[in-house]
Amino acid sequence: MSTVLVTGAAGFIGSNFVRLLIEQRPDVSVLAVDALTYAGNLANLSEFSGNESFHFHRVDICDPDALHPLFEAGVDMVVNFAAESHVDRSIQGASAFVQTNVAGTQTLLDLARQHNVGRFLQVSTDEVYGSLGPEGAFSEASPIEPSSPYSASKAAADFLVFAAHKTFGLDTVITRCSNNYGPYQFPEKLIPLFVTNLIAGEKVPLYGDGLNVRDWIHVQDHCEAILLILEKAAPGSIYNVGGDCEKTNIDIARIILSHLGHDESMIRRVKDRPGHDRRYAMDFSRLTSDLGWRPRIEFAKGMGDTIDWFVNTPEWWKTIKTGEYLTYYDKQYGRGGVVGADR
Ligand code: NAD
Ligand code: TYD
Repeated sequence: MSTVLVTGAAGFIGSNFVRLLIEQRPDVSVLAVDALTYAGNLANLSEFSGNESFHFHRVDICDPDALHPLFEAGVDMVVNFAAESHVDRSIQGASAFVQTNVAGTQTLLDLARQHNVGRFLQVSTDEVYGSLGPEGAFSEASPIEPSSPYSASKAAADFLVFAAHKTFGLDTVITRCSNNYGPYQFPEKLIPLFVTNLIAGEKVPLYGDGLNVRDWIHVQDHCEAILLILEKAAPGSIYNVGGDCEKTNIDIARIILSHLGHDESMIRRVKDRPGHDRRYAMDFSRLTSDLGWRPRIEFAKGMGDTIDWFVNTPEWWKTIKTGEYLTYYDKQYGRGGVVGADR
């Protein structure tokens, strides 16, 4: 039985990846770690409690002493999702981003090297490439030109991961994916924020002219790409992952409004985000030609199902909006204490 250490496992994509691993790899033992910052929610993983191949540890990836015993017990692969992930928060203050995304990644790399981990997969983002004009798409050879403190910290982490491969021969792979949507996404991000606001009868804040473009991918497709790359990619490789689904933010707003039976009077135009990247688009042909991957979930179906998931799971996001979810760990495990800047 191999052991996969999944960091950031209580977040949006991490928890969806744990679900995929447990469903599709019964021979894998999942060592899930998360610091449970404001974005980590143990309710995302509650269905696995009692599952013999799942173990959760509340650990900060910047804390080598807390991580050491986990590595000592034997880790075959690391998948690093743990990060501060919201651009707007990085504009408010960058230090938590530098700490977790840069220093935390280096801490994991050092431990992976010391303990002869077989593979280290870094979950990165298309945002490291910066912004595109109206034409073209990012390839893996595009220059790294991040715009926000968030994307700059992710770019720094990518360089450290690649350096660990080049300098020390650590078996690393980097995935760079476009914007994810799907169940369990924290309701500060565009789609879950708009959906939950509308369900609660509140307007949705659209930045600037609403014409910024993102490439959207269902989280399930992203997780399947990560698993394939984890198992099959060559050491040192980098893969773009995308949904082949460019939409403006106003397009997204209209889709959600219409699904929930509202009109555009529910849009609130607000001041633009500083340094707002205009357009992202991904060329993921390397992943298709090397490993045969392409996204499977059609956008209209994936979005409809996602909106319905939020409609049908109000207890999940309402406990987030009230802050009650932050006490979940303490109720379950009886350990007090505050982790993360926002708690
Ligand atoms: P998220 O904010 O939902 O989850 C991040 C998780 O990391 C949370 O559970 C949080 O508690 C945990 N965490 C934060 N700091 C930590 C620390 N110091 N130690 C341990 N755990 C810590 O984010 P997400 O959307 O699930 O993103 C996961 C990863 O995927 C990130 O690395 C992000 O950069 C990358 N990514 C996200 C997207 C997207 O559209 N959401 C797209 C491409 C790449
Ligand atoms: P977001 O979900 O924060 O992802 P990212 O900035 O990492 O792409 O935002 C997606 C797009 O939606 C981005 O162009 C900013 C815009 N946006 C809004 O218009 N209003 C909002 O309230 C938020 C959170 C985002």
